[in-house]
Amino acid sequence: MKKIIIANWKMNPQSAKEAERLFRAVAQGIRGVKNVDVIIAPPFVYLESLNAISYKLQVHFGAQDCFWEDRGAYTGEISPVTLKTLGVRYVIVGHSERRAHLGETDEMINKKIKAALKAGLIPVVCIGERERNHLEDTLLFLKGQLKKDFDGIKPSAAKKIIVAYEPIWAIGTGKAENSDDAQKIAVYIKRVLQELLNAKAALAIRIIYGGSVSAKNAASFVKGGVRGMEGLLVGGASLQADEFVKIVRSVALQK
Ligand code: PGA
Repeated sequence: MKKIIIANWKMNPQSAKEAERLFRAVAQGIRGVKNVDVIIAPPFVYLESLNAISYKLQVHFGAQDCFWEDRGAYTGEISPVTLKTLGVRYVIVGHSERRAHLGETDEMINKKIKAALKAGLIPVVCIGERERNHLEDTLLFLKGQLKKDFDGIKPSAAKKIIVAYEPIWAIGTGKAENSDDAQKIAVYIKRVLQELLNAKAALAIRIIYGGSVSAKNAASFVKGGVRGMEGLLVGGASLQADEFVKIVRSVALQK
């Protein structure tokens, strides 16, 4: 199975020109890389212009959010159907920054997952605990999030869903999760998904890691094959083309 690496640019860069420059540098740097799917999730407003220059480049596009309705009077929101028409394949839902700053709840995230699937997008569902005291507490917390986020999701949709485990304490702090715990958590998430959906569906859902991923630690998270993390969600490091290209290339070397 191909590994997946998603660049979450968040609210950066500030101009279309800079976005284009970063995009070209990344696309150039990952040329020839075969066994990794690279997805760039820029701010919405750059999707169209970046897509226009992506011809023949080995990148896919992701969005950082979507709304749960297809159309209508929802000022400032963006429809998953519109994203699809812009060439977007993946959509991040439930990022902890949206949960924290915009009050997104698991109920809203559940509706967004369903709307994304309906529009033919692959939702990247973010879960993660605020603090780490005991691993046991973390696992229980994640189970609670998964239960709500996956409420009413059919097992047949599983292969179209990605779960991103992003411990909040690791995001943007330079303190990444240690890769052994990350592997344990990936296995645990699969087990919960098996309970919520079924065994086949749990196997089909890819689990990726996010939180202070760098060129130094990227490979360590994806070492376990299908029993471990199957990819990465990269924030800060995805804004530096050289660093991001190193991340992609180091993951490509893993079996
Ligand atoms: P970070 O962000 O890589 O800067 O920690 C990850 C994320 O928020 O998706």
